[in-house]
Amino acid sequence: MSRRLLFFLLIIASATAAATPDPDACAGSRIHIRQLPARFNTDLLRHCDTAFPLADHPSATPSCSSLANHGLGPRTHNRTRSWYRTDARLLEPFFHRRLLDHHCLVDDPARADAVFLPYYAALDALPFVLEPAMLNFSGVHGVPLAQFLAGDRPRVLARRHGHDHFLVLAGPAWDYSQPPDTDPRLWGSTSLLRRPEFDNFTFLTLESRAWPWQEHAVPHPTSFHPSSLPRLRAWIARARRSRRPTLMLYAGTVSKPSRPNIRGSILAECANRTLDVCNLVDCSGACALDPIRYMRPMLKARFCLQPPGDTPTRRSTFDAIVAGCVPVFFENASARTQYGWHLPPGRYDEFSVTIPKDAVVLGGVQIVETLAAVPEEEVARMRERLLELAPRVVYRRHGSEEMGMDAVDIAVEGALRRIRRRVRALEDGRPEALYSLDDDDQVI
Ligand SMILES: *[C@@H]1O[C@H](CO)[C@@H](O)[C@H](O)[C@H]1NC(C)=O
Ligand SMILES: *[C@@H]1O[C@H](CO)[C@@H](O)[C@H](O)[C@H]1NC(C)=O
Ligand SMILES: *[C@@H]1O[C@H](CO)[C@@H](O)[C@H](O)[C@H]1NC(C)=O
Ligand SMILES: *[C@@H]1O[C@H](CO)[C@@H](O)[C@H](O)[C@H]1NC(C)=O
Ligand SMILES: *[C@@H]1O[C@H](CO)[C@@H](O)[C@H](O)[C@H]1NC(C)=O
Repeated sequence: MSRRLLFFLLIIASATAAATPDPDACAGSRIHIRQLPARFNTDLLRHCDTAFPLADHPSATPSCSSLANHGLGPRTHNRTRSWYRTDARLLEPFFHRRLLDHHCLVDDPARADAVFLPYYAALDALPFVLEPAMLNFSGVHGVPLAQFLAGDRPRVLARRHGHDHFLVLAGPAWDYSQPPDTDPRLWGSTSLLRRPEFDNFTFLTLESRAWPWQEHAVPHPTSFHPSSLPRLRAWIARARRSRRPTLMLYAGTVSKPSRPNIRGSILAECANRTLDVCNLVDCSGACALDPIRYMRPMLKARFCLQPPGDTPTRRSTFDAIVAGCVPVFFENASARTQYGWHLPPGRYDEFSVTIPKDAVVLGGVQIVETLAAVPEEEVARMRERLLELAPRVVYRRHGSEEMGMDAVDIAVEGALRRIRRRVRALEDGRPEALYSLDDDDQVI
């Protein structure tokens, strides 16, 4: 076992509930962290690096070094206190670590308003999506957890039919939604979200489906994890005063798509353009682990393009927000319909630009022209609004001082809000209200 893994295990094992909470401050927010056997969490950290020699791509599994700092990854360089090489798949252990800092933890599940399951679901899925011999069993992803919860202190689960349980799933919900009876099994996804045992749990995912009664999207983690308010403020100030000679930037895959799509249109518009109009940052390699490659250019750009890739959302949206580079969306599923807890859906026009993708791909609308036509004061206003919202999508470092609500705080509040609403519906005998999404989006 590596020393790093051992260290992680020790911290998780020795952490206990925080000091006695103020009873009123914790009303409705008491969280019990369910004790799970190590096979559901820390044992899965062994899936790093060479655990799957058959994996066709070196980045198919998180590298073992990305386990450092409870999943934030190693620092980008020795002297930084805020920047890390973060692999999003380690959001599960990171969230677990952050919840151990929560103010309202209770040991007794009967006193809890919500039960957090520290299950590292995306890491547990790796064998099903990387090992050919396991493909045919991807329908059983999660069954051992369901069996454990049904058999070990079954009252915890039964008390509210699971409506008060929540957990993190560090990936797009779609990757966990393959119907269990699909035959032959499709590559690349499991049926975790289709297991009837988990129908009533709230999953925090990086991307939700169109009708997300089971999950809610939380921001993709960026590489910026400040450990204090002055560090957060210093970065925001830097992004605010940065000179931005480039009109627009796209960071992502730069190979030509086989069929016309929005990415193809972006590449075509950027071909032969000078840096003051368009900057293409080639992220075909492992860009996410090398934030300097795109953060510097993003600080110099006024707009950052966010076309859908394999799925509608992308990490780059959040890198852009942190850099103060106004995001340009081509469909609402890329953010507006996803991150309602963190970014106000009704105010996207104040901090982003939306150009419907059909207008570009089929309608001949030019992205460069559209963005160049936005007056400079308007861009500055959007950037200001964006930087005001940026702290809400930042995952601050564990163990850091409070710095307003960060992405984890907001996600936990959102989950608690949803759980309180469901438990009320349950207690009032209003089953029709159980899965409503009415009050899901917060007015910020
Ligand atoms: C960073 O720190 C490590 C360990 O202290 C050291 O081995 C390495 O040389 C340092 N790197 C730089 C660029 O200073
Ligand atoms: C998986 O199931 C399919 C039928 O659905 C079968 O053809 C295939 O041989 C099975 N693969 C393995 C590795 O068992
Ligand atoms: C989910 O909740 C509904 C309504 O409370 C309940 O009837 C059902 O049994 C629950 N499902 C599970 C798997 O507990
Ligand atoms: C870009 O330049 C190349 C070679 O100079 C040319 O073949 C191509 O048509 C140009 N593309 C655009 C979109 O102007
Ligand atoms: C995206 O959302 C906005 C605001 O709700 C709405 O006006 C617009 O029609 C939506 N666009 C599409 C393509 O659905």
